[in-house]
Amino acid sequence: MNTTASTEVHLEALQQAVNLAEIETLGRARLDQNALDYYVSGANDGHTLRANREDFARIRLRPRMLVDVSRVDTSTSVLGLPLGFPVGVAPSAFHGLAHPDAELATARAAAGLGSVMTLSTFSNTPIADVGQAAAGRFWFQLYLLGDRELSREIIARAGDSGARALVFTVDAPYLGRREANERHRFALPPHLSAPNVASRETLAGVETDTGSQLTNYFQNLVDKSFTWNDLDWLRAQTELPIILKGILTAEDAELAVQHGCHVWVSNHGGRQLDTAISAIGALPEIADAVAGRAEIYLDGGISRGTDVIKAVALGARAVFLGRPALWGLAAGGEDGVRRVLELLREEVRLALALSGKQNLGQVGPDLLRMETSPLHP
Ligand code: LAC
Repeated sequence: MNTTASTEVHLEALQQAVNLAEIETLGRARLDQNALDYYVSGANDGHTLRANREDFARIRLRPRMLVDVSRVDTSTSVLGLPLGFPVGVAPSAFHGLAHPDAELATARAAAGLGSVMTLSTFSNTPIADVGQAAAGRFWFQLYLLGDRELSREIIARAGDSGARALVFTVDAPYLGRREANERHRFALPPHLSAPNVASRETLAGVETDTGSQLTNYFQNLVDKSFTWNDLDWLRAQTELPIILKGILTAEDAELAVQHGCHVWVSNHGGRQLDTAISAIGALPEIADAVAGRAEIYLDGGISRGTDVIKAVALGARAVFLGRPALWGLAAGGEDGVRRVLELLREEVRLALALSGKQNLGQVGPDLLRMETSPLHP
């Protein structure tokens, strides 16, 4: 089969996919072992990775009947940016492993659907190029580097490229141990680079005798001493809103608000501290602590429109897709990411309607009943 024909068959399969799981199957089939290992892995035994999904299923909905749902409005806004539905793209590294158009495809798909993309520090595409493709609909995810001068330059570049917020990842002074990546020595293929932080030469030059190349590289790059006291430094570097990504407790949510930051509930897709609580499990105490003083977002385990409205009911303003966006990207580039977002948008609309809600403002804790557990009776 020639390439054009194979692409057409592929796009047809994409359009026929009826849910995110089917797109995951298509996406996985397009990836080599190195990329697949990198995207699927959780830390250690993968307990938190699984809990992110399972804990959504433990929450049951209490739908109301005989409500006029002939029109259902899925729209919201994040930091003043209108969204067509409460779903954005979470940051994830190296979109070039999934598709040659890499982060440009993700950015275009998100912008085209009135969503928002969060660009990783470890993108394969320079910030400025993604900024153009994103048409104002992007946030920038920051890893704070040991080299403060380079961090400062990256922050400035993000602002100049039109990023609307800085998403500062706080849960990764070290990378969690993704054992498949250690075993198979995950490495960035030579045709890809991480232009925001390093030249190709620098990254290719990172080698040790064992383990994941990324872990070895990250180890020497990221500042491990940064604390709450240093947030003033970050605040002084930018006028952009700052979102702390990786918050899992009420205590840290309170500190985030005291430091003028917004809160992104996440356990990094189960890739950092294994057996950490699930994102949706952490959300209630965080929403209580924040008490409306900042915006709250969540990633981890979203695969259905019902997941989205459960997170909204518990206090998230929007949720973000990590792996599902990557599966879409692998399955069909920009078209694939668009299909993922479209499917989820329509699932959100249907979930709202069948719950008897006309818009997201009507979605609150009364929509939910938690299944009891031995720990939380
Ligand atoms: C990861 C980092 C790079 O999870 O965010 O692999």
